[in-house]
Amino acid sequence: MRFRGKIALITGSSRGIGKALALTLAREGATVVVHYRRNAAAAENTVAEVRAAGGDGWSVAADVEDLTALEGVFDAVATRHGRLDLFVANAAATAFKPAMELKAHHLERTFNMNVRSFVIGAQRAATLMGPGGRILVISSYGSVRAFPTYANLGASKAALEAWVRFFAEELGPRDINVNALNAGIVATDSADFFYGQPGMPPMATVVARIPKRRAACPAEIARAAAFLLSEDASYVTGTVLMVDGGLTVAAPPFRGEMSRA
Ligand SMILES: NC(=O)c1ccc[n+]([C@@H]2O[C@H](COP(=O)([O-])OP(=O)(O)OC[C@H]3O[C@@H](n4cnc5c(N)ncnc54)[C@H](OP(=O)(O)O)[C@@H]3O)[C@@H](O)[C@H]2O)c1
Repeated sequence: MRFRGKIALITGSSRGIGKALALTLAREGATVVVHYRRNAAAAENTVAEVRAAGGDGWSVAADVEDLTALEGVFDAVATRHGRLDLFVANAAATAFKPAMELKAHHLERTFNMNVRSFVIGAQRAATLMGPGGRILVISSYGSVRAFPTYANLGASKAALEAWVRFFAEELGPRDINVNALNAGIVATDSADFFYGQPGMPPMATVVARIPKRRAACPAEIARAAAFLLSEDASYVTGTVLMVDGGLTVAAPPFRGEMSRA
């Protein structure tokens, strides 16, 4: 029960990794604010599962690209609880395009949705936190590796990892830890969407090059995130934890493609 009595806000927790984390924290006693954008039914379903898992929770809608809506989420948390213990910036989106085809509005939208929302969100979260507070952002291996159509999102993830270091340095004296979890390929709707884009190879061909030979399941990412949010990680701040099954340490020639593996 590492999260008994803790109030956690997880953006984009109506499905995927965010939902898995909501349930992981709920099983250890947290009250989870389930944030989503459009799918209210999915969010309510997550809240019901959070309660069934032994936690408590409620849902709040906001497009994180919209600053006023984002501020409204923190206003609602402040009104309801007067404080926040754990803030996880998990929601993310982009238009997948080659770098040469990106227009200014693609850059602005992806930056606002992913980076600006984290910076403003972390400021608001820290204002509601006391000693022991935790801020976590979900990054991806596109922050440190290049692959087709991911430039805009990958560059925004790299920016997030830099912001993590600056916030960690500034909030360390207040005993608020700020970290990033960098995920590899995770079996979610959004991974299916990415590999469903025209010209993408089947996910199975990519997974065969990962040392673990499989995608992560959302619960595996959630368990690593829970570590970073817990007292077990009390001295861990300003870091990026890779949770990628070894994806980013492997390089060509790939073992699975040798004639004698
Ligand atoms: N899946 C992977 O393979 C993978 C790998 C590495 C990193 N990640 C990262 O992990 C995080 C979660 O990814 P995921 O695959 O679980 O889910 P996702 O499909 O990226 O996001 C799903 C959640 O985010 C919300 N959301 C999306 N756009 C939003 C916006 N503009 N404003 C507010 N909420 C928004 C959705 O709400 P609605 O359903 O209501 O729209 C939903 O709750 C992301 O940061 C992603 O980049 C994923």
